[in-house]
Amino acid sequence: MSDNKPKDELLDHAYDGIQEYDNELPGWWKNLFYLTIIISVIYVIHYMVLGTGDSQRVEYLKEIDPNYVEPMVETAGGGVFSRYTSPYLAQQENLTPRVRHELDRVVNAPFDEHIFRAMNTATAEDLEKLKVLFPELYTQFDSGAFAAPSAPSVSTAGAIASSLTAPLTDDAALEAGKSVYDVHCFSCHGNAGEGGIGPNLTDEYWIHGAEMQDVLRVIFKGVPAKGMIAWEKTLSQEEIEQVASYVLVRLQGTDPPNPKAPEGEKVE
Ligand code: HEC
Repeated sequence: MSDNKPKDELLDHAYDGIQEYDNELPGWWKNLFYLTIIISVIYVIHYMVLGTGDSQRVEYLKEIDPNYVEPMVETAGGGVFSRYTSPYLAQQENLTPRVRHELDRVVNAPFDEHIFRAMNTATAEDLEKLKVLFPELYTQFDSGAFAAPSAPSVSTAGAIASSLTAPLTDDAALEAGKSVYDVHCFSCHGNAGEGGIGPNLTDEYWIHGAEMQDVLRVIFKGVPAKGMIAWEKTLSQEEIEQVASYVLVRLQGTDPPNPKAPEGEKVE
C-alpha cells in the first residue's frame, strides 16, 4: 500500500449517478484473500495429489461399508500412499445384518454376476449396448444360463435337537414362548409379529415352511446370510420349542397393525 497515494480520489466514471473512489483494499481483506490461495494449494495436495484426505465419495463408501479401504494410489511423483482409514469407522457395525450381508454379497460378487444383474434390469435399449460390450456374457445371459444367485438357505445339514412335529398348546408353554419372543425376537419380527427386519410371522406366507419342524429348524439353525440368528447356542431346546409354538399358535393368523408385506410361499 503506497502511503503517498492520495486517499478518496474519485474515478472519472459514473453509473446512474453513482461514483467510485479509487482506494486500496484494506490489508485484512487482502490477507484473507492470500490465505484462501494458500489453503487451496494445501487442499489440492492433501486430497488430490497425496490422497491423504477422504473425498466425499470415499467418506460415503466408508459409511455404508465400514471395512472399505480406498485402494492405494500411485501419485504423479511415483510415491505410493495408502489412504487414511478411521479406526472408528472400522468398528462401526451399525448396519442391520441383512443390509450388511446383502451389501457384501453384491459388492463382492464376481464381475460376470454384476453384468448379468445389469442385463437383467436393463431397458431394451441398454441391453443392446451391453450386448455389444460383452458379447460372450450376453450369449450366456440370453441362453438363460444366468439364474439369480440362489437365496441363501437355512442349513439343512444335521438334525435339530427337537423332534416335535406339532406346536405345544398349553398356556404355560405359550406364555414362556411369549417371554422368549419379547426378549429375543421382537426387535426384528415386531412386537406383535408384524415383521420388520425379519419377515411377518402372522401371515400365511412362509419362506422356510410352516410346519413345526420347519419353524424349529429356522430358529435352531438360523439363516445367517439373511440376518436370522441361529438360536441353538443362546436358547435351550425347551425355549426354542416354546417360542416356535408361540409363533405358530399365538402369532399366526393375527392381524397386527403395520404388517410387513408377505414373503415366501402361501401355506394354507
Ligand atoms: C437380527 C434379526 C432377527 C432376530 C433377532 C430374529 N430373527 Fe427370525 N428372521 C430374521 C430374518 C432376516 C429372517 C428371514 C430369513 C430369510 O429371509 O431366509 C427370519 C426368519 C424367521 C423365521 C422364518 C420365517 C419364514 O417366513 O419362513 C422364523 C420362524 C423366525 N425368524 C423366528 C424367529 C424367532 C422365534 C426369533 C427369536 C428367538 C427370531 N426369529 C429372531 C431376523 C431375525
